[in-house]
Amino acid sequence: MMNDIEKILITEEELKEGVARLGKQIAEEYADKNPVFIGILKGVVVYFADMIRATPIPCEIDFMVVSAYGKGTSFGTLLMKKDVSVDIRGRHVVILEDILDTGRTLSHVIDHLKAKEPASLKICTLLNKPTRREVDIEADYIGFTIPNEFVVGYGLDYAERYRNLPFVGVLKPEIYS
Ligand code: IMP
Ligand code: MG
Repeated sequence: MMNDIEKILITEEELKEGVARLGKQIAEEYADKNPVFIGILKGVVVYFADMIRATPIPCEIDFMVVSAYGKGTSFGTLLMKKDVSVDIRGRHVVILEDILDTGRTLSHVIDHLKAKEPASLKICTLLNKPTRREVDIEADYIGFTIPNEFVVGYGLDYAERYRNLPFVGVLKPEIYS
């Protein structure tokens, strides 16, 4: 698996520091709001598990399963395979997402969740790729801003592989071309 990686972009140590910083900020801002953290599966799984442990305040968790990408790296149709099960009406919601790229996935998710009338709705993304944006959407909390490169690891996949790498790395181009 390591042979497919061209370079490590964000090390385990840097991820830990970034998540600790985000968790501290959210813990302060949501201390008495009993927020609902909604993770967008599957890419969020590693970040989510670390993030909630870095945010030691009363909260609830829930997940949505949304997939926008098929096997490769180009945009397909967005499918919602699982909706939230917590009633978020009147609740403070923080969406946790692995990466904000074109913004299409999150803009759909936001429209969908807004219709349920939460008290507030914010986005906390681990990674941000601002150069790829196609939809006018920004995250409220950002772990790391990265260049326009396809990354894997720490939950992120290419064709469902590499999610279990402990760092965020760039794949060798020959793997996906
Ligand atoms: P968006 O809808 O283009 O913002 O894309 C968001 C989703 O695309 C993420 O939740 C990821 O699943 C996937 N994605 C976007 N960029 C990457 C990448 O560099 N590596 C792995 N998955 C990515
Ligand atoms: Mg993905």
